[in-house]
Amino acid sequence: MANGLDDVVAAETVLSDVDGLGGRLTIRGHSLPELAGRWRYPQVVRLLLDGFFDDLPDDAKLAQAIGRARVEVFERLQPMLPALVPLDVYSGMRAGIALLPDGDTLTDALLLIAAPAVLTPALLRGKRGSPAIVPNPQADHAADMLRMLSGTDTSPALATALDTYLVTVCDHGLNASTFATRVVASTQAGLTSAILAGLGALKGPLHGGAPGPVIEMLDAIEADGNAAGWLRAKIARGERIMGFGHRIYRVRDPRADVLKAVVRQLGGAGATGRRLAFAEKVEQTALEVLRQAKPSRSIQTNVEFYTALLLEAAGFPAEAFSNVFAAGRVAGWVAHAREQQTTGRLIRPLSRYVGPVPDLVA
Ligand code: ACO
Repeated sequence: MANGLDDVVAAETVLSDVDGLGGRLTIRGHSLPELAGRWRYPQVVRLLLDGFFDDLPDDAKLAQAIGRARVEVFERLQPMLPALVPLDVYSGMRAGIALLPDGDTLTDALLLIAAPAVLTPALLRGKRGSPAIVPNPQADHAADMLRMLSGTDTSPALATALDTYLVTVCDHGLNASTFATRVVASTQAGLTSAILAGLGALKGPLHGGAPGPVIEMLDAIEADGNAAGWLRAKIARGERIMGFGHRIYRVRDPRADVLKAVVRQLGGAGATGRRLAFAEKVEQTALEVLRQAKPSRSIQTNVEFYTALLLEAAGFPAEAFSNVFAAGRVAGWVAHAREQQTTGRLIRPLSRYVGPVPDLVA
């Protein structure tokens, strides 16, 4: 039995492939460096959804349809914001998404793809006591998300940085949240039900909940002043260093390098540049500490380490980092859900019973 399903192939997919030894991510025939920073997020949404909806339009029309979906999500969910804002920002987003229709049309899919980008800024503003900002259907998806957060048009460089992030995390093989999504889709439940399963799985700190704690770690190490001592003490307590390690990658996560380059471009001599320089030192120390503490396992930097720096630079508070992860990954979840619904079977594995057995009656 594979505890954690290590090395178990549980689906065939045309969507993405994670090469853990080569450190490569392929998304529908394209390597990550071909896409990140070159394709905009709506184009990658189209790439992922291609073949799963008969009425999928071309790139330009799909970008417009995603813009209209942002407006529709806002109109449907704005009246619910007073009930959602008091929740933590991830739970508020999840609860809002649960109110969307549970169908499997392209319209349903685009509402789900638009929802995290609309709800996250609205919930964060609500927590500050500021009114939510109506989406602009004509705007670029990432730029509009930032505008709905800050209330003003942000720099093209920041919008490009966020767009590159959304593309970088859009899909990643059969990770825990995508598997959870496929399990629900395999029952022929609707897309919203499937995406809610993905959202539940993403929340945990071993998966999409890691980048917030990365910021806490950097702040704590800065205050402590002794990175190696702080990190060794954490491992000695049996705790994990957030932003390091991966089930599949035995080399560096290729997404970490893409995101680090984006943060470097944003950096300069300002706060982001100083944060990056400090984080790079912590990264090197952490890799050395992990090498000494776990010599039998290759533990490398994962996507979450530089996600934290990028999203901090983009103006998101740490409490919303998993929301922004969901804003990118939702496209992959929808595509996997449709692939499972249209080509897969009910997922129903076995368990081995190790509990007490009933007394045999003579
Ligand atoms: N810090 C300290 N020790 C670690 C770490 C880490 N970040 N990662 C793995 N290890 C150690 C474990 O303690 C364990 O040691 P042991 O054998 O002495 O008990 C060994 O490496 C194997 O750990 P597993 O949990 O079996 O390995 P797995 O491949 O399942 O780990 C995981 C993957 C869960 C991501 C792990 O590396 C981790 O907890 N990382 C920190 C959280 C994190 O960054 N999550 C984001 C992952 S990326 C993503 O999901 C988008």
